[in-house]
Amino acid sequence: MPAKIIDGKAISAMLNEETRQRVEALRAAGKTPGLAVVLIGDDPASQIYVNSKVRKCAELGIYSEKHLLPGDSTMADVLALIDKLNSDPAIDGILVQSPPPPQIDEAKVIEAINPDKDVDCFHERNVGRLLIGEREGFRPCTPWGVMVLLEKSGIDPAGMHAVVIGRSNIVGKPMAALLMQKARGANATVTVVHSGTRDIARYTRDAELLIAAIGKAEFVTGDMIKPGATVIDVGINRIPDPAGGKPRLVGDVKFDEAREVAGAITPVPGGVGPMTIAVLMSNAVTACERRK
Ligand code: GUN
Repeated sequence: MPAKIIDGKAISAMLNEETRQRVEALRAAGKTPGLAVVLIGDDPASQIYVNSKVRKCAELGIYSEKHLLPGDSTMADVLALIDKLNSDPAIDGILVQSPPPPQIDEAKVIEAINPDKDVDCFHERNVGRLLIGEREGFRPCTPWGVMVLLEKSGIDPAGMHAVVIGRSNIVGKPMAALLMQKARGANATVTVVHSGTRDIARYTRDAELLIAAIGKAEFVTGDMIKPGATVIDVGINRIPDPAGGKPRLVGDVKFDEAREVAGAITPVPGGVGPMTIAVLMSNAVTACERRK
C-alpha cells in the first residue's frame, strides 16, 4: 500500500491560523509584530524564499521590511544595518537569508543580531537554550516545522530510532536536538549520518523515522528505507528538465520509490517547505508578545 502523504500545506494553514489570531490579539492591544528580512546579493532561489516570507507576513497582518543589499556589500554595511534593526522598536524579528556571499562572515552577522530578535534561532544563546531544553529561546524554523508535522499527523517519535541525514546548523543539528529532548512529542533515539559516514544506508534501513536534510537531489532511494517508516524530506533541489522545460523541484528523497516502501511521507513541494515559513511567522509573533 503506498504511503500516507503528510500534507504540509494543510498543517501549515492550521499553524498560520493560530498565528493570525495571535496577531489580532496583539493589534487589539496596540502592538503590531514586525519582521525585517535581509537579503545580500541576488541569488534567484533566495529571492523566491524572501518574497514568500514577506507575502506571508502581509497575509497574517505582520508588518515586514525587505532589505536588499548588493552582492558586493561589506561586513561593515551588513553590521550597520543589523545595528539599526536591533534598535528599531517596530522590528521584533530579524532574518538574514542564508547563505550570504563569500565575503560575509555569517557567524559574525548572526552573533550581531539581538538574540531577542533572532527569529531563526541561529544565535548561540538561542541554540544553547534549545539544546538545554529551555522554552525561552526561539524555535528553529525548519526542525520545529518537522516536529509540528509529526504531531499533527499523529506520529509520536517516542522510543523510535530516528535517523537524521545531514548535520547543518540550520537543520540537521537542531533537528537531532529536538528529537532527543526528554519531552512530549520527542524522546527518540537519534542517529545523525553525514558526508563522513561510511555506509549511510546501513543506518537509514533501521530508521523508523527518517529525516533527509542533506541537500542532494533524490539521494534517498527506496532500498534505503525501512518498510513502514515515516520519511520527512527537507530537501528542495532544482534539477534541469531533460525535455528542456522549466527546472523541476525535487526533494532529497526519490519520492516515487519511497512512497511504495514508507508508511508516511512528505511531498516536495508541499511538505516541510510551508512549515518553515509558518514557524518563522509564529516566532516573529512570539518576539512581539515578549516585547516590553
Ligand atoms: N536559508 C535556508 N533556510 C533558511 C532559514 O530558515 N533561515 C534563513 N535565514 N536562511 C535560510
